[in-house]
Amino acid sequence: MAYTAVELIEHKRDGGRLPSEGIEWLIGSYTEGSIPDYQMAAMAMAIVWRGLDAEELAVWTKAMLESGDVLDFSDLKKPKIDKHSTGGVGDKISLPLAPLAAACGLAVPMISGRSLAHTGGTLDKLESIPGFTTELDQSRFRQILTDHGLVLAGASPSIVPADRRLYALRDATGTVPSLPLIASSIMSKKLSEGLDGLVLDVKTGSGASMARIDDSLDLATKMVQIGTDYGVKTVAVITSMEQPLGAAVGNANEIEESVAVLRGDGPADVTELTLALGELMLDLGGIGDARSRLEDAIASGAGLEKLKEVARAHGGDPAVLDDPSLLPVAPLTATIEADDDGYVTTCDALTIGLAATHLGAGREQQSDVIDPGVGIILEKKIGDLVNRGDRLAIVRYADEERWQSQKDRLGSAWTIGPNRVAPPDLILERIDSSNFEH
Ligand code: URA
Repeated sequence: MAYTAVELIEHKRDGGRLPSEGIEWLIGSYTEGSIPDYQMAAMAMAIVWRGLDAEELAVWTKAMLESGDVLDFSDLKKPKIDKHSTGGVGDKISLPLAPLAAACGLAVPMISGRSLAHTGGTLDKLESIPGFTTELDQSRFRQILTDHGLVLAGASPSIVPADRRLYALRDATGTVPSLPLIASSIMSKKLSEGLDGLVLDVKTGSGASMARIDDSLDLATKMVQIGTDYGVKTVAVITSMEQPLGAAVGNANEIEESVAVLRGDGPADVTELTLALGELMLDLGGIGDARSRLEDAIASGAGLEKLKEVARAHGGDPAVLDDPSLLPVAPLTATIEADDDGYVTTCDALTIGLAATHLGAGREQQSDVIDPGVGIILEKKIGDLVNRGDRLAIVRYADEERWQSQKDRLGSAWTIGPNRVAPPDLILERIDSSNFEH
């Protein structure tokens, strides 16, 4: 049966189910370039509104996965385990976690994403290390993984090319917050990596793509089911994204904070989530005493050494990891100050993520180039006591007009009240493959 893109878009727009061959044709044609971005953007928006049922989601994910090659690392004699986040503000966890996991004996073939809507992306953060390339062909990807137990790359013309195109399109068309589009984007990338196990960090709260916990649970359940169906041991945790993780929001400043975690003096929330997700990764890989191994890899410097070694293999300059003051930093500085005495009751992740994006730490259009030196350092977060005039954040920016357009928005991220509220719990729920049939 022959399809046209317009018929499929109209069918989904009106609430219909997409036929399996229609999905396969659409993803295949989009990947090879015979369906234009504007039609795929319309389809993505129809899916945002109408969703995909379980069968459509399975076919959509498989078509994305099969748009490129599926890697096979069965010759590597280490457990192949990865982690992926659904996206958050200040969420740099992959940067300290992946080298720690590799230093503890796992092979981590990590295919990551760029900034998406108001959330940051691992690839953009890594590229603030001068020279670091995340564009690897398959043989280089394999070589770095084999030599170092860790590789950090993006989707490529041969590995999930469908997600490479669709991800950038969704970012620029307001079509990120869709359960099936997120689940298929993440799982197609992860299933292409030839994994034994996968840890999913599904964010919930204001700065997450899914703000409501029921939606986050639904997303986590669907992704764990897809992983299980493909024989990959998959665990998901639901974690809070009411306020940003750590103090740094941006790109280069998030590298600096990740190095601090690897040196043992990172913020408590980033360190704790890194260790908790690391434990899950090592458990899936059958490596015992997970927590103490990870802590030892911090104390001995093995995690930081691994990041330096891998940065060098990716063409990056490891000197910035020894001396983060060499990282790029935007020329202009401003501060946000408390307008009242009391306790911080909100430090809103979405507002801070949007302000950072508009200042140049993320993209508003596909063609935008990120400024790695733009960023925000949060000095007060939920539960902190402040006096009127205290500094809440320092902002590094490059364009005065953009700052003037964002400063009120950024200031509105904090609310201050008379009573102390506790910071949100980091990990809220856990879902794993053992709950599902394979
Ligand atoms: N991470 C991804 O890889 N894709 C999404 O859609 C969201 C987060």
